[in-house]
Amino acid sequence: MADGHNKEIDALSGVETTGHEWDGLKELNNPLPRWWLYLFYATCVWAFAYWIIYPAWPLVSGYTRGVLGISQRADAIAAYEAGMAERAETGQALINASLDEIQSNPQLLEFAMASGQAAFGDNCAPCHGSGATGAVGYPNLQDDKWIWGGSIDDLHQTIRFGIRSGHDEARIGDMPAFGRDGILDKQQVDQVASYVATLAGIEPEAGVDVAAGETVFAENCAACHGDDGKGLQELGAPDLTAPNYLYGKSLEAIKAQVTNARNGVMPNWEGRLDPATVKSLAVYVHSLGGGQ
Ligand code: HEC
Ligand code: HEC
Repeated sequence: MADGHNKEIDALSGVETTGHEWDGLKELNNPLPRWWLYLFYATCVWAFAYWIIYPAWPLVSGYTRGVLGISQRADAIAAYEAGMAERAETGQALINASLDEIQSNPQLLEFAMASGQAAFGDNCAPCHGSGATGAVGYPNLQDDKWIWGGSIDDLHQTIRFGIRSGHDEARIGDMPAFGRDGILDKQQVDQVASYVATLAGIEPEAGVDVAAGETVFAENCAACHGDDGKGLQELGAPDLTAPNYLYGKSLEAIKAQVTNARNGVMPNWEGRLDPATVKSLAVYVHSLGGGQ
């Protein structure tokens, strides 16, 4: 590239060259097109106007704020606070509303369902499973079989106070450990287990006197599980004719329960979660399909 001394008039166009030359190609020194120039001035004006109106230049501490006082940070904080205020308002509305009112108010219902589902994932899924289908010892909350009742008020009470949780208002009702505590001997345990097997629809143990087991049941078990074995919700005694058993449907599982009686514990959530969330959980669990 040649330097700027070699300016000359281009023979073909009559325009002066800049003196730059690349492999024989020379650059003409044409003036900038007007439209380009005006556009350039316009962008300069725009830039100055922008600096005055909007936050623009960083300073040692802070920045120029612009005459309009625009701040995306302040906007975001305001939007967040408005959202929280609305949440608190809806939360308060949930606390004030009865469970029936929540279920018949589409806006409250939608809010309760969303917050109930989120709270379920955080607090209940570890025991009841993320799909609420339960596991051995942890009841399935999707089916329509309820140990303690499936109305929305029953569910609300179970979730608030828990089951054998130690809370003053917890649901209580312990099955005695018939085998461990020597209330029944081994033979009676085997007999009553085989009788329960007939209620459960599984094979009784070969060679065991089921009729004797029925008598043991009437004398020791019917008070809680009912004469027909269909259970009593007030006592949390499960229906022994149900399609699913909390602790599994097998002779071993039945014998284990009659011998040791597990008496599962479900924590109370009042005091751990706020009242609006506890209500939302009742609404959510009730909606899972088995609500009564
Ligand atoms: C530490 C484990 C654990 C956690 C966490 C837990 N549960 Fe439970 N839950 C249980 C057990 C165990 C039972 C069954 C108790 C029994 O034997 O009656 C139960 C029973 C229930 C029942 C009664 C079911 C019926 O058939 O009557 C409901 C409803 C319930 N849980 C809802 C919840 C909700 C909602 C949460 C979350 C806020 C939750 N549970 C968290 C262990 C748990
Ligand atoms: C004082 C009341 C009470 C008496 C009496 C009682 N049960 Fe229970 N039974 C319960 C309760 C409560 C549970 C649930 C325990 C739990 O959730 O851990 C239960 C659970 C069971 C289960 C497990 C059900 C399942 O879904 O897995 C079996 C089986 C059972 N009982 C059999 C018997 C037999 C047999 C007798 C008599 C020998 C008996 N029970 C006497 C209260 C009682």
